[in-house]
Amino acid sequence: MDHKSLIEAALDARSRSYSPYSGYRVGAAILCSDGTTVTGANIENASYGATVCAERCAAFSAVASGKKKFTAIAIAGGAGSATDRTDDYAFPCGICRQVLREFADPDTFTVIVAKSTDDYKEYTLSELLPESFGPDNLK
Ligand code: THU
Repeated sequence: MDHKSLIEAALDARSRSYSPYSGYRVGAAILCSDGTTVTGANIENASYGATVCAERCAAFSAVASGKKKFTAIAIAGGAGSATDRTDDYAFPCGICRQVLREFADPDTFTVIVAKSTDDYKEYTLSELLPESFGPDNLK
């Protein structure tokens, strides 16, 4: 799958964000090693600490459907109301970086933070989470 399609899936997932408290709406689309895409959105809660980020929503949905190896993620987030673009490059929080690390090769896994299908930045997970701790450390 190309970057554009993955970003489109993240923007579409963003439309299902439940974020009445922050108004910051995030969508994420994970490309799994089997070629399928699993999406998620941030889901907030009146008890704020129960909120889940879009990236973890997508990651846990993927694992729960049997996909435990990820290749890439596209993230689209921001406060604006447009559906085809955002005002921010929404970088994944530290907890989400660590969760993605569990199911990815950090040197090859691609993190795309997108404002639109034409305006995005691309990193490896190793760049965003250097010298990481992962499953291999516990073997
Ligand atoms: N959020 C995400 O969905 N992903 C991140 O990596 C950072 C923050 C959400 C959580 C909350 O609903 C809103 O953005 C504001 O923090």
